[in-house]
Amino acid sequence: MSTPPLSSYPALRMRRLRQADWIRRLVRETTLQPSDLIWSMVVHEGEGRIPVGAMPGVERLSVAEAARAAREARALGVPAIAVFPYIDGEKKDARGSEATNPEGLVCRAVKAMKDAAPEVGIMCDVALDPFTDHGHDGLIEAGRILNDASVERLVEQSLVQAEAGCDIIAPSDMMDGRVAAIRSALEAAGFQDVMIMAYAAKYASAFYGPYREAIGSAKALQGDKKTYQMDLGNTHEALREVALDIAEGADMVMVKPGMPYLDIVRRVVEAFAMPTFAFQVSGEYAMLMAAARNGWLEEERAILESLSAFKRAGCAGVITYFAPRAARLLGA
Ligand code: PBG
Repeated sequence: MSTPPLSSYPALRMRRLRQADWIRRLVRETTLQPSDLIWSMVVHEGEGRIPVGAMPGVERLSVAEAARAAREARALGVPAIAVFPYIDGEKKDARGSEATNPEGLVCRAVKAMKDAAPEVGIMCDVALDPFTDHGHDGLIEAGRILNDASVERLVEQSLVQAEAGCDIIAPSDMMDGRVAAIRSALEAAGFQDVMIMAYAAKYASAFYGPYREAIGSAKALQGDKKTYQMDLGNTHEALREVALDIAEGADMVMVKPGMPYLDIVRRVVEAFAMPTFAFQVSGEYAMLMAAARNGWLEEERAILESLSAFKRAGCAGVITYFAPRAARLLGA
């Protein structure tokens, strides 16, 4: 009688390494930590905190509350905050003039947060949509988004943000050529240490819905963003977009949305070995919270599992509205 091979069942048992928590922890390949999180935060001009209906647990913060939140991020070990503004309707126009107001909401929030907690990195979105009365990320003429004229506005916006003390400029507009234009302008203006995280592969997605409520652009948006954001069926195009943004000077790249696009994350990580981030967007947040509020998901486990998926896919980190909550759950 021959002895059964030791490399197959029953001698080989995959469950051996799952039998207790200590050994599961020991062989775990990827882990989630507060240092993997960028806190996605919405600020507003008024006082206090205003709940966002479609995002239970998310509130728009006043500038003073944002400063407090920056100290909270520091205490929780969350390295960075991404700021998004809710701009009052009367300040919006076709050019998004308020985007380049050095005394505007974003600049005031950045200054207040950097004063409160200089050790926390601040990232600003570069795009005109919170500031335009048509809700698009660029300038429009006769119903068409103008690429090059939009890039000029985005460069101005980036410089104003850098001047305010922003550490990471994050162009989310998907205009062609904007990363190069922003990098050159930052260099020329002496902002050589200001980083660029390009929303490199950003898809035209239904999952941004609740964000538009959060920043107050839902009613404004005319049409869709399909002439500049990527088509959801494409993968090769994502690699070309990322390659271009790297060639144009991006320090870090991002894939957006997150969980429905983890295949793209993986391809980008493998192809470029760049610090790659994913944005767990508003709709992903809303889905998880809606199911949890209905008792259909275990809320805390689902939050951490969703964030861990980004690490497993190869992300350096994830931009998420869950950041403070997750950091607390991780026992910071
Ligand atoms: C603006 C921008 C959007 C998001 C981040 N920056 C919306 C959009 O492109 O329509 C989405 C964030 C989210 O859904 O959480 N360019």
